[in-house]
Amino acid sequence: MAREQWKSQFGFLLAAVGSAIGLGNIWRFSYLAYEHGGGAFLIPYLAALFTAGIPLLILEYGIGHERVGSAPLAYAKISKRWEWLGWWAVLFVMFGIVLYYTVVIAWCLDYFLLSFSLGWGNDPNGFFFREFLQVSGSPAEVGEIRTPILAALAVVWLINWAVVYRGVQRGIELANRIFMPTLLLLIVVLVAWSFTLDGAGKGIAAYLKPDFSRLSDPKVWIDAYSQIFFTLSLGFGIMIAYASYLPRKADITRNALLTALINSGFSLFAGFAVFAVLGFMAQSQGKAIADVASESIGLAFVAYPQAVSLMPGGNLFGALFFLCLVVAGLSSAVSIIEAFVAAVVDKFGASRQKLVTFLSIAGFLGATVFTTRAGLLWLDIVDHFVTHYGLVLVGILECFVVGWLFNLPRLRRHINRISSVRLGAWWDFLIKLFVPGVLAVILVGDLVNEFSKPYGGYGWTAVILIGRDWLLLTLVGAFVLACRPWRTGSHEEGGRSDD
Ligand code: ALA
Repeated sequence: MAREQWKSQFGFLLAAVGSAIGLGNIWRFSYLAYEHGGGAFLIPYLAALFTAGIPLLILEYGIGHERVGSAPLAYAKISKRWEWLGWWAVLFVMFGIVLYYTVVIAWCLDYFLLSFSLGWGNDPNGFFFREFLQVSGSPAEVGEIRTPILAALAVVWLINWAVVYRGVQRGIELANRIFMPTLLLLIVVLVAWSFTLDGAGKGIAAYLKPDFSRLSDPKVWIDAYSQIFFTLSLGFGIMIAYASYLPRKADITRNALLTALINSGFSLFAGFAVFAVLGFMAQSQGKAIADVASESIGLAFVAYPQAVSLMPGGNLFGALFFLCLVVAGLSSAVSIIEAFVAAVVDKFGASRQKLVTFLSIAGFLGATVFTTRAGLLWLDIVDHFVTHYGLVLVGILECFVVGWLFNLPRLRRHINRISSVRLGAWWDFLIKLFVPGVLAVILVGDLVNEFSKPYGGYGWTAVILIGRDWLLLTLVGAFVLACRPWRTGSHEEGGRSDD
């Protein structure tokens, strides 16, 4: 069966941007900027973008396109011994990240509906933690499933199913042709509206005012690199699969640059809406900006609702904001599912439709654990382990496999032959030494922290069973899948630069 393809390169770009722009862009980026020195944070953020984000994105597009395969197939075609690496990435995103990611989209969907009646009342903080999530005392007290979240989750998975079921062109590409312009329109309206609020200027000043003294803190740099990694969906196996659906002639470097710049541009732009609203809130409550938001999750589900309740026409503003999150989240969720679907179709020749139906049911059921009263706590632990260790390790190993085991200059020649922006030998240096080096420093820093105390104060048992073992289980699964025989002969074919 011929490999599916994007209808156009623009469709590919939209889908890749859709994957990159997600929940993380809207509040996580703004929060990091705010916490880490305002405008000064842009220095480590842009440094991370240019020294690691873009080079790795080119690498993922490059091997997806040259080896013509999803992550496991691409790695298997480099060396059969490394096929597991591709499986590991797509397994922990499909059975880790997307499970809690869809639950957060479900919260946003519920909050979208709540906005119309300002359903969080006068105490958004108490509402969010005690009424909406009903957070339990510890991860061991799982408690009952929260039905409003479960209902919204069912809708989210139904949409995921409907999009991925229809395939690359008629599903993902078409959905992003609707999602992306919608998202752009929503964010433009939100930013413009937020500028009209009293105190907006104060918020924006806090967002942009550089505090260069923060740059001496290594955590600021580590957070900048981690954010770039997550926001560009690197190490997820997504960009490899997406690039494998490109035609023979495709401008790899230009698409990578555009994806990265549009994604970061969106984050920077969305930050204005977030901070203008915080400024408005500080002004109306007579507080300092530093006191209106205390953590990233609180920024979206506590501070924002509070502000929405205070502003004229707030219901509509709130609805637009949460709709924006839903749309951004959905286009990323479908990309994660596609990365896994592509892998299974490549290896076992499975029927896309049956597989997607099965995965959507399994994903929905698996995600229910995050809709329980301990959901937020589980989410926090799984997210910490998957993003800090899973993604970073995949990043390091990806650089090793492609940089040292594959013929990197050949890959570069392949990319240069079809791209408009040409890569020099500097790219080899970044992939072989610099990026893995930076990621290794981050990994060691994280590990040192990890052993000093249980993450988040949850206690060792919870952290080990929910965090470490979740990741280990997907690793075991990766080895098992890598050992299974190929039903399709595709792993025996070479890449596009072989001929
Ligand atoms: N890249 C996606 C995000 O930032 C996963 O949310």
